[in-house]
Amino acid sequence: MTHEVVAAWRAGDIQDTGRSQPPLRPPRAAQPALRAPRDMPRRRINKGTAGRIALLHAIAHIELNAIDLAWDIIARFTDDDLPVAFYDDWIGVAGEEAKHFQLLSERLAGFGTRYGDFPVHDGLWDAADQTCGDLIARLAIAPLLLEARGLDVTPGMIAKLESVDDTDSAAVLAIIYHDEIGHVATGMRWFLWVAEQRSLAPKAAYQEMVKRYFKSPLKPPFNTDAREAANFPADWYEPLGR
Ligand SMILES: [Fe+2]
Ligand SMILES: [Fe+2]
Repeated sequence: MTHEVVAAWRAGDIQDTGRSQPPLRPPRAAQPALRAPRDMPRRRINKGTAGRIALLHAIAHIELNAIDLAWDIIARFTDDDLPVAFYDDWIGVAGEEAKHFQLLSERLAGFGTRYGDFPVHDGLWDAADQTCGDLIARLAIAPLLLEARGLDVTPGMIAKLESVDDTDSAAVLAIIYHDEIGHVATGMRWFLWVAEQRSLAPKAAYQEMVKRYFKSPLKPPFNTDAREAANFPADWYEPLGR
C-alpha cells in the first residue's frame, strides 16, 4: 500500500493532503503477539540461526513501525501549514521503510519463517504517542533520537553478521544503514525548518525536547561520522549522553 501511494504521489495523482486525524495507534494484525519490552528474549548473533532470526524479526518490527511513523508525520501535523517539500520528503522515507520491511521479510523467508511468527516489543509506538501533539517534539524524538540511535548500533550488527558469514543479512542491514542516514538528515532539515518558523534556537530546542519526552540519558558511543553525514552536529546530542 505504501508503494502504491508513493507512486501516486510522484505521478501527481494526489493533489491534496487533506486534514483528517490519523488513529492514535496504527492498526495491527493478530500476529505477531505484543509483549512488554522486559519480556523479550535476548538475541545473540552466532553460527546458529535462532539468534539471527530473532534479530531480523525484531528489526522487521521496527521497520513496520517506521512505515507507520512516516505516514503519521504526514497525516498528523497538517495544522503546521507545511510546504509540499515536507510531503515529498516523508513520502520518500515511507517508501524506503517499506523497502526495508520487504528486504527483511525476504531474509526471514530464507530462514523458513516470516514476520508475525515471534512476539514483538510493544513499546515502539510510545514515543509516537507522547509526541502526537507537537511536530517539533516528533522530529526530535523519532528521526533525531530513535533513527539516529539506529545509526549508532547498526555497524556493529553488520560486522557480527559478517563474522558468521551471513553476508545476505549483512547486505540488507547495509542498505538500511545507508538509507537511515538520509532519514536522520530529513529529520534534521525539518527540525531546522520548524525551529525557524517558531523563532527557536535549534540546539536548545532539541535538547529541551529530548529532556521532556525521552526520560533517560542518551547512550554513547555515538556514531558521530554517520550523524555528521546526516548534518547532525555532535554538540546537540553529546551533552545528553550519560
Ligand atoms: Fe528503515
Ligand atoms: Fe528510517
